[in-house]
Amino acid sequence: MIPYHIIILAAGKGTRMRSPLPKVLHPLAGFPLIWHVLRLAESLGPKGITCVISQDLQDFFSDSPHRVILQDPPKGTGHAVQQALAGAGHLAQAPTLVLYGDTPLLTMGTVQALLALDGDMGLLTFRAPLPNPYGRVLCKDDGTVSRIIESSDLSPEQKPNPDFPLNAGIMAFRAGVLPKVLPELRPQNQQGEVYLTDTVAVLDAQGGRVRPLSVPAEEVLGVNTQQELQAVETIMQARLLKHHQNAGVMAGSSVIFAADTVLAAGTQVHPYVVFGRGVRVDEGAVIHSFSHLTGCVIQRGATVGPFARLRFGTTVGEDAHIGNFVELKAATLGKGVKAGHLSYLGDADIGDNCNIGAGTITCNYDGTHKHKTTLESGVFVGSHSALVAPVTVQEGAYLGAGSVITKNVPKDTLAITRPALTTVPHWSQRRKKNTPSS
Ligand code: UD1
Ligand code: CA
Repeated sequence: MIPYHIIILAAGKGTRMRSPLPKVLHPLAGFPLIWHVLRLAESLGPKGITCVISQDLQDFFSDSPHRVILQDPPKGTGHAVQQALAGAGHLAQAPTLVLYGDTPLLTMGTVQALLALDGDMGLLTFRAPLPNPYGRVLCKDDGTVSRIIESSDLSPEQKPNPDFPLNAGIMAFRAGVLPKVLPELRPQNQQGEVYLTDTVAVLDAQGGRVRPLSVPAEEVLGVNTQQELQAVETIMQARLLKHHQNAGVMAGSSVIFAADTVLAAGTQVHPYVVFGRGVRVDEGAVIHSFSHLTGCVIQRGATVGPFARLRFGTTVGEDAHIGNFVELKAATLGKGVKAGHLSYLGDADIGDNCNIGAGTITCNYDGTHKHKTTLESGVFVGSHSALVAPVTVQEGAYLGAGSVITKNVPKDTLAITRPALTTVPHWSQRRKKNTPSS
C-alpha cells in the first residue's frame, strides 16, 4: 500500500505509430500497453488512480473502476495532469505519482525506489544512444535537477551532447507540490504544448528540490513508434521466458508468451509455440512446435501439436493427445482422448478415452446458430466423419469411417452412413479398350 494518488497519462494522438489503433491499445505480450501500466498501478495499492484519456479510449475504459478524465483536445502532458486535478481539491494535495500509458516495462521495485527518494519531486532517468526523442535532464552540482529540455527544443549545440541523462517521464511529487507548480506551466515550446517536464524548472525556481534516480533503459523505454513497440515486446518476452524457466518450465527464446500465461513446473514447450491470452498448462504437459493456444486449459500429462490450434473455452483432459492440424474451440476433452490428425472439434463435449479419427469435423454452425456435439466416454469416431450438431453419441458407440451423423447414436452401437461398396470386375481393361487413343 502506498499513500499516493496515481495519475496515468494515456491521451494524445500517438501519431508516430501511424496506426488507426490508439497508441496505448497496441498489444504487448497479448494485452494493451495501458493494461500493463494499470496492473502495475493497481498492484502498488494507491489511494486512488486517475486515468487521463482521449475519446478513442472511452470504450476500453467504459467499465473501469478508476477515475477517468477525458482530455479533449490533448494539449500536452502538463495539460493532462492539470485536467486530472481540475476541481479535485483533496486529490490535488495528495502525494502523486505520474505514470505514462506508453511506458509499460516499469517494475514495482523501481517505483518503490523512486517513492523512497527525499525531496519535493523525484524522477527516473536513464541512458540511451543518440539520436533519441527523450527529454534531456539538466543537473546541478549538488546532483538535483534544475530543468528538463525536450529533444525538439534542444539548441543546435545541445543536440549532439551525449552527456545528458534522459527523462523517463515517470515522476513523483510530494504532497502539496502540484497545486503550486501546475498553474505556472506555459505552452512556450516548439510543439505549443503544456509540458509536465516544465514542473522541474518551476519547482527549482520556487526553491524546491528535484531528485533524479538513474535506472536501466529496459525499465523505461517508451513506445512511440512500431519499432519501439517491437523493442519493448522483445524485452517483455525475455522477461517472461526467464520467469517461466525459473519456475521449472522447458522453453526457449522462440516461444511467445502472453503476460498471463500460467505454466506448471515440468511443462515442455517446444520451439515456435505461441500463447495468446488466458492459457493454463498443468504439470508434465508437452506443447509441440508451431502450436497456437488461446483461452484454454491443458491438463496434466497431455500432449498438444505440432501445428495444433486451441481456441477459447477449450479444456484438454489429462493424458489426452492432440496431434497436428487439429483445431479445438469451446471443446472439453476428457482424460485420454486422442485426436491425432486434421480435425475441427468446436462446441463439443468429448468424454474420457474417445478416439477421434483423422479428418473428423463437428458441423457446429448452421449459418445462424452454433450447436453442441456430445460424445460420451469411449466413443470411437472413424476417420473422415462429420458430426452434424446438435448430436449426441452415447457411451462406447462406434462411428464408421466417412459417416455423416445427423441423429443421436445409442450406446455401444455401430453407426455407419457409408453406401455399400460396389466393385465392377475387369472395368479397367474394358475402359482401355473402349477409349480411342488420341
Ligand atoms: C515524454 C516527455 C519526455 C520523456 C518521454 C519519456 C513531456 C513533454 N515529454 O515525451 O521528456 O523523455 O516522455 O517517454 O512530457 N499524453 C496525454 N496527453 C497529452 C499528451 C500525452 O495523456 O496531451 C500521454 C500519452 O498518452 C503518453 C504520455 O502522455 O502515454 C507521454 O506522451 P508522449 O507524447 O508520448 O510524450 P513524449 O514525446 O514521448
Ligand atoms: Ca512517449
